[in-house]
Amino acid sequence: MRRLILLCLCLITWVVWADDAPRVILIGPPGAGKGTQARYLSEKYHLAHISTGDILRENRKQGTELGKQAASYMDTGKLVPDELIVTMVAEKLTGDGGFVLDGFPRSEAQAQLLDGMLSKSGHPINSVILLDVSDNDLVERLSLRRSCPTCQRTYHLKSNPPKKEGLCDVDGTALIQRPDDKEEVIRNRLKVYHDQTEPVLRHYQDKPGVVKIDGRLDIQDVQKQVDDNLRPLVTH
Ligand code: AP5
Repeated sequence: MRRLILLCLCLITWVVWADDAPRVILIGPPGAGKGTQARYLSEKYHLAHISTGDILRENRKQGTELGKQAASYMDTGKLVPDELIVTMVAEKLTGDGGFVLDGFPRSEAQAQLLDGMLSKSGHPINSVILLDVSDNDLVERLSLRRSCPTCQRTYHLKSNPPKKEGLCDVDGTALIQRPDDKEEVIRNRLKVYHDQTEPVLRHYQDKPGVVKIDGRLDIQDVQKQVDDNLRPLVTH
């Protein structure tokens, strides 16, 4: 009998531990480093990387209806309508495992819809990481960003250049400049961030696990701080 009780206790502990995977929102203005850090976290902690921007760009490349509907919003730096985005995210948030959301939620309505989706699964967000960088730094950063159209990895001509000029380190594809990385579109994306995405921070401010990190630090230093915040969720 004592053995059975012990076994049950072990099982309960295992279920509670297994449930506690990181469910992370990376939030911050365009160019703050969300994609860079999300890719790192996804590889290190085996989390699903859900980047709404990457999914939309992939849909545009494939010429899907969603991609066609999103194009004009993306090219001018506006938010794609919530109903298109939320359906897209719901399709990805199917399993029980950990995930890192990159670029979502981006409006108060999206944050509320996300709460609804996760409350059904009983696995709420347990980490919200804000990457903080000033607008002027971001304009410079995004103008010098280059992206791989195949694997979506990003580079920066000064701070994070590819090993071979103009080519992706991972698959050798020729790097491109994103059409929305032109200065006038960058400025509009920043305005949209301040008007529509910053209010999302208020949605999470009283919840546990919210942290602000200085996104102007070197990529490795940001990585270390992000890691310090996530490690307790993984190892207890
Ligand atoms: P999206 O693709 O999400 O763009 P974004 O949020 O504007 O973010 P970025 O991808 O530009 O930047 P990032 O923060 O990921 O930075 P990165 O790591 O690349 O969205 C594009 C569009 O899709 C939106 O405008 C909208 O139209 C639509 N959309 C997407 N999601 C939506 C949603 N939920 N609702 C509605 N519409 C949506 O880094 C940037 C550069 O800096 C790189 O070159 C990198 O190498 C470098 N870098 C990174 N970290 C550092 C560092 N610490 N120091 C120096 N350089 C660094």
